[in-house]
Parts: sequence; structure tokens; C-alpha cells
Amino acid sequence: MQSILGASALTAMPYASLANKDYSIVQLLESVSAKTTGSLFGFRVDPIDKVRVGIIGLGNRGNTLLEMFQWLVENDRAEIVGLADINEKKVIAAKEKLSVWQKTAPQTFSKGKNNWKNLAKQDDVDLLVIATPWELHTPMAIYGMNQGKHVACEVPIAYTIQDCWDLVQTAEETKKHCVMLENCCYNEEELFVLNMVENGVFGDLTHVEGAYLHDLRALMLSEDYYEDQWRLKHHISRDGNFYTTHGLGPLSYYLKIGRGDTYSHLTSMSSRELNLSRTAQQQNSKFTQFKCGDMNTTLIKTALGKTIMLQFDVHTGRPYSRINKVVGTKAVHDGYPSRLYIDGEEPEFWGHNWLNNEEYNEYKTKYNHPLFNQLKEISENFKQGHGGMDFVMIYRLITCLNLGLPLDINLYDGVMWSAITPLSELSVAEKSKSIPIPDFTSGQWKATNSLEIMRSF
Ligand SMILES: NC(=O)c1ccc[n+]([C@@H]2O[C@H](COP(=O)([O-])OP(=O)(O)OC[C@H]3O[C@@H](n4cnc5c(N)ncnc54)[C@H](O)[C@@H]3O)[C@@H](O)[C@H]2O)c1
Repeated sequence: MQSILGASALTAMPYASLANKDYSIVQLLESVSAKTTGSLFGFRVDPIDKVRVGIIGLGNRGNTLLEMFQWLVENDRAEIVGLADINEKKVIAAKEKLSVWQKTAPQTFSKGKNNWKNLAKQDDVDLLVIATPWELHTPMAIYGMNQGKHVACEVPIAYTIQDCWDLVQTAEETKKHCVMLENCCYNEEELFVLNMVENGVFGDLTHVEGAYLHDLRALMLSEDYYEDQWRLKHHISRDGNFYTTHGLGPLSYYLKIGRGDTYSHLTSMSSRELNLSRTAQQQNSKFTQFKCGDMNTTLIKTALGKTIMLQFDVHTGRPYSRINKVVGTKAVHDGYPSRLYIDGEEPEFWGHNWLNNEEYNEYKTKYNHPLFNQLKEISENFKQGHGGMDFVMIYRLITCLNLGLPLDINLYDGVMWSAITPLSELSVAEKSKSIPIPDFTSGQWKATNSLEIMRSF
């Protein structure tokens, strides 16, 4: 596995020796920076009437994404022209699934670990969708853009800080869309909260909390679920928050990160590891020792002084949660389950209770995001996509391309939300040292642009 900062940083300064060196982390982070300009805010390309799509990676996620295209294919807005995976059986199964709702057969690519490049080179591909293991995301996205393709990549889009810079430089130079497919930004609860934030219900925000708390022990320890148990292997050699974007994407929209505010610095701490190894031993797994702590907590401060608490735990048995807490001067929201507190204007109306069901539902009716309402009927047929949000995400992506509009999630969003992983690893390894967060936008975050996800069309 690569170093946190990327291959060139590893050569320049071995990561293992960081703790003992007199060095500046700022210098280190900047030393791997590429030539970037921040020129892709508001980026749009000419309308593409029917988006021709190639999918790389047809495992669990690639299959769900494929299914999300059904309505768009049937309505002539997209066509699946190519399918690639190193596992031939998965390609054949996906092709069969597609044949039920698309007349033309896609080309298939399953001969070896580099065969996906032939799909990326095809002239008839507009958009490459990438749903492979994490460390392949950036190389595949960069190769795709260099072949003249727009790319839409699963989370996280980057794995090292060098990846982040390389993605920004390549997208800016090739002038291609490079979007991270962060589906949680399109979940009904997050869109409802965002709509309230945008309409001033919370007043001014001071603090938010998010997470990826998901018991993945059974799936990670299974020898069949993830190809070659790739996901478990990260837990053997790394420690930090590996899955930042499900929580951080929506929170960053609430805080207008990249649109008037940005991350300044972070500190990160991991608990001891107990639960994954205990379960692995009980199950006689071939892997039983893990470096990643059961719970990672990362604190991020923004340039405008707001704070973010982000947690990551996939080792502990517990109900799923992304927390989704928003604290503002006028209201507070807590997720899982969604609850709302509205502060009274006078002291006699200050309270300690969440709104009751009836009061909450009034807010829900008033502020449910128009996008979710608009697509509810169609997306109800696609419930397998995490309760509808996956369909809304793919619908928005393809519709923006059909109409030639800027995408909801821009290049810098995906890179900034992903960069927190390697930076959290660096902080954990350095006894929670405060780590400055590089500015991947070349200062363009200062422009108070509105959120594309709030547009209706
Ligand atoms: N957004 C979400 O809700 C969500 C949910 C699940 C997974 N994911 C993301 O999706 C990605 C894939 O996860 P998954 O659960 O589908 O894993 P998976 O192991 O089921 O699928 C990965 C696929 O990539 C293929 N692959 C590996 N190397 C390849 C290569 N060189 N060329 C072509 N194909 C190759 C594998 O054969 C496998 O089929 C991950 O990045 C994960 O984080 C996102």
C-alpha cells in the first residue's frame, strides 16, 4: 500500500521517520503540490443528449450503480456502452442484467487487471463510472480524463494527498468533469436539513457532526463479499478515518465549504483496536491483527471558525448512523433518528426538548427538499439504491450532463472531502498533532457561490 502522502512524498521523506524529524508539515504538504488554478468552479461542458457510459468495477456497488441507470436508459438520456471487471463472471452477469432494459449490448472488458484501459480508450464513451477498490480510483480517474472522458468515481476519490493534487491538476488541464459519487448528499434527511440551513432555520452555524458508524465485520471478514477481501486489508496496515465522505459531504454543504469557507486544520485520534480482531479470531479468519482503532474521531476547524466532529467505526456492533448533527444560533438537528430543536426568541421559550412529531412534521412538509419531492415517484421504483438517494444522485449527474450544467458535486468537493483520510492518518500517527489542510482550490473557496444541489430544473 502507498504512503499517506503519495509516492513522491515517500521518496522525499520516508513517512516512517516523520515523528523524529525536525520538519514542517506545511512544507511537506506543499512539496507534493502540483500546478493548479482553481479554474473548474462552475465548470460546464456542451450538452450531451445521450450520455454514453462505461462502468469499471461490477462488484456490489458497480451493480447498484448500473441498476440506477435503468430509467435514464429507458428514457433515452443515457446508454451503457461498456462494462469492465477483472472477474469475468461479474461482467457476464451485469451484461445479462442490462439486457433486460437496454436493447444494445455493451462491449465487455475482463481480460486482466489493465483491460479497463481499453474501455477508457473507446471513442464512444462520454463518462467513465469507477466502482473499484479505493487505491485504484485516482489512477483510473486520471487515465480516463487523459483519454478525454468525464469521470464519476466512487468514494473516496483520492487515497493520498498526492492523489488529490494529481486529480485537480489533471481535471483542470484536460477540462473534464471529475465528480465523486457521494450519494449521502442526496439522502432525504440530509437534503431536508440542507434546505433548512439554506432558508435560515438554523441561524448561523457553529458546529456540525457526522460519521460513518456501520458494523462491517461480517462483510469485511467474509471471503466472498469484497473482491479479495480488499476492504479488510486496509484495516491491517492503516489507522485513521478511511471513510470520511458519507458524513462530511452533506456537512460540508451545510457549512458552504468551497463556497465561502474552507477547512483550516484537523486533529485526529483513534481508540484501541479490540472488536474486529476478537470477531476475526472467533470466526477463524485468516487475518486477525489490525492496526485501525475501533473508533476514530477527527476534529476539523474551518477558516471561519466553525467546527466539525467526524467519526469512523466499522468494527463495533451497533445500529448504523451518520449522526448528521447541525448546531446553529437558532436551531439544532440530530440524526438517526432525525430530531429538531427550535430555539425560542425570548427566554420563556428556551427549552430542552426536541419538537414533537406534529411540530417536526410541519417543518418536514415545509422544508423537504424540492429535488426529493420531484423525484420521489420515479425513485420509489429504485429503492434498492439506499432508499432512493442513489437514483437521485445518478439522475442529477446525467441530467446536468444532458443540459450542459455544472455538476452538483464539483472536482474540489470530492478532493477536499477525501483528503481528510490521509490527513487523519498523519495526525493519528503523530499523537494527534494538528495538521494544516492544503487548499486544493487555489484560494477560489473564498467566492461565496451558491450550492448547485439547490438548483431545480
Ligand atoms: N457510495 C456508497 O454507498 C458505496 C457503497 C458500497 C461501496 N462503495 C464504494 O464502491 C467501491 C467498490 O466497493 P464494492 O463494495 O463494490 O467492492 P467489490 O469488491 O464488491 O467491487 C469492486 C470490484 O472492482 C473489481 N476490480 C478490482 N480491480 C479491478 C481492475 N483492475 N479492473 C477492473 N475491475 C477491478 C473487482 O473485481 C470487484 O468486482 C469502493 O470504493 C467503495 O468504497 C460505495
